[in-house]
Amino acid sequence: MPISTCIFDAYGTLFDVAAAARQAASEAQFPQLRDSWATLASHWRLKQLQYTWLRAITDAHTDFWDVTQDGLDWALEATGLAGDAALRQRLLDLYWELQAYPEVPAMLKALKAAGMNTAILSNGSPAMLDGAVQSAGLGHVLDDVLSVESVGIFKPDARVYDLVGERFGCAKEEVLFVSSNGWDAAGAAGYGFVTAWVNRASEPVDRLPWKPAHVLPDLSSIPDLARN
Ligand code: LAC
Repeated sequence: MPISTCIFDAYGTLFDVAAAARQAASEAQFPQLRDSWATLASHWRLKQLQYTWLRAITDAHTDFWDVTQDGLDWALEATGLAGDAALRQRLLDLYWELQAYPEVPAMLKALKAAGMNTAILSNGSPAMLDGAVQSAGLGHVLDDVLSVESVGIFKPDARVYDLVGERFGCAKEEVLFVSSNGWDAAGAAGYGFVTAWVNRASEPVDRLPWKPAHVLPDLSSIPDLARN
């Protein structure tokens, strides 16, 4: 069945989650980050995601902004930066205006020109996603921004992936689901979407029962993939 609908994970896929720590580290008032920003960014992301999984399986949902702050607090303590209120606030502010990867605007424009439905499907809260989309200037090339907050549980719960068919009225096999998160691509493949895993860091594939149909180094080939 031809692809009609291209759905994107947000954080790590369209938006560079390491950009907040990298940017703060380049600012004169945060020399304490110069050597540790990459470690901080990695701890922050991993804890943020672990907390989504743990909250989902224990039925203890809170929104992505809460787990983003909790993950950051863990990461700041782990890197010896706990209690640095100015740094904490700067990193959180930057999370609302993360850079999109360079190929994102042209890729989404090409999908729209080809008549595809395009949307984000993300753990992010509606307000966070709105901030990121507006800051990256992507509003005109996305048909919708779908947040897990409408079902109150994080990915990879199937109720989240159900939001795509409910919004676009399409079959699972018509959906190309794109994520840089191996576990998200695996979950979406298990659900029945055609999936593309964007593996920018050349990581090993996740050992899960479901594998992505496509593995890509970045997003630039998505329009060709969707048309074939
Ligand atoms: C998201 C997280 C998983 O945007 O990156 O849903």
